[in-house]
Amino acid sequence: MNQRDGSDILVIGAGVAGASAALRLADAGRRVTVLARTALEDSASNQAMGGIAAAIGPDDAPALHLADTLAAGGELCRESTVRGVVERAPDAIEWLLDQGAAFDRRDGALDLTREGGHSRRRVVHAADTTGRAVMQALLRRLRAHPGITLLEQHAAVDLLVEPEPGAPGARACRGAQVLDLERGLLRTLHADHVVLATGGASGIYAISTNRSRPVGDGIALAWRAGCRVADLEMMQFHPTALRHPGAEGWLVTEAVRGEGGRLLLPDGERFMHRYDARGELAPRDVVARAIHTEMAAHKLEYVLLDISHAGAGFIRTHFPNTLEHCLAVGIDITREPIPVAPAAHYTCGGVVTGGAGQTDVAGLYAIGETAWTGLHGANRLASNSLLEGLVYGEAVTAAILADVPRGPARPGAGG
Ligand code: SIN
Repeated sequence: MNQRDGSDILVIGAGVAGASAALRLADAGRRVTVLARTALEDSASNQAMGGIAAAIGPDDAPALHLADTLAAGGELCRESTVRGVVERAPDAIEWLLDQGAAFDRRDGALDLTREGGHSRRRVVHAADTTGRAVMQALLRRLRAHPGITLLEQHAAVDLLVEPEPGAPGARACRGAQVLDLERGLLRTLHADHVVLATGGASGIYAISTNRSRPVGDGIALAWRAGCRVADLEMMQFHPTALRHPGAEGWLVTEAVRGEGGRLLLPDGERFMHRYDARGELAPRDVVARAIHTEMAAHKLEYVLLDISHAGAGFIRTHFPNTLEHCLAVGIDITREPIPVAPAAHYTCGGVVTGGAGQTDVAGLYAIGETAWTGLHGANRLASNSLLEGLVYGEAVTAAILADVPRGPARPGAGG
């Protein structure tokens, strides 16, 4: 344990990956500092709508979730990673329920919705605000935990990296330099272990579904510290972001298509069947490319997504957030279609990590969207992102608890 301004563990980022790792580590008796660049409620996880994929339905099995993930990933996934994640998905849901997360139920059982690329209904959700439901439960515990220090409006600007004693050529991370964004002050925080959970880089695109506009800061910190990164060109574009002045990029959840939403040209023609036999339920990359092709061919600013045939009652129950948000910009989705276009959504690549978030630098870990684990390949399967954050939140905890404390950092150690 460090004696100076520090904790056992510094977690940089407070989305689902960072929060779940911090809680598990603090529950195991470690002193944890959690850093958030914004207010805690502004993480990308908090904005997630669709849900969390887990093979828990009576007609489902992890092997089917595995096959769907590999197919969506364009054969670029690492199969052993995918297998490990999908097998741990049901336990991740149980852990969230234990933390107090409330999901939609039908006849007492968890209600499962469907999204593109999934061959079964397997998406656990809380209407169309699943991320908010998950993060409310985790943040409630995070705020109350005596072992956790929360620093909101703080950004890591550099990692403290020094030679690893007794390991020629190796380097170890011993903390970070952080900027207090409200007061403009730099602080040095020492820690035995540093976990990067800063999200991805979709905010570098003109239109992103991610309102916190992540710019890949954690990925850049790790790269500068000497870590490998991979597949950063694999930026996922979500097919259906709202295209409307003042609400550009607002995500219209994939579950709208999962529950029968139809993609239309302005004259009412459905077009997805011309691109894929699964129609609107093809994986995200296929649907985004099809929309892009149609927009280019017909010189359109957007295509239309129509769910009005599902009925006002169904829409109010399943998509209250989407209904409210569209109404605020003058679109009543119970009666008319939604103008949509693809927008940057998710960074499939990231910092190269091992089975428990370890990077190339000792004591430095990366989890969630910051990391490359091999789960997503070229295109992430819908609702595998919160899942990945939860599974690696647990895995990194086990790795850190099994590792030896490194002792106090040397004064002046820097990246
Ligand atoms: C969505 O609800 O469409 C987004 C969920 C995800 O990115 O997996």
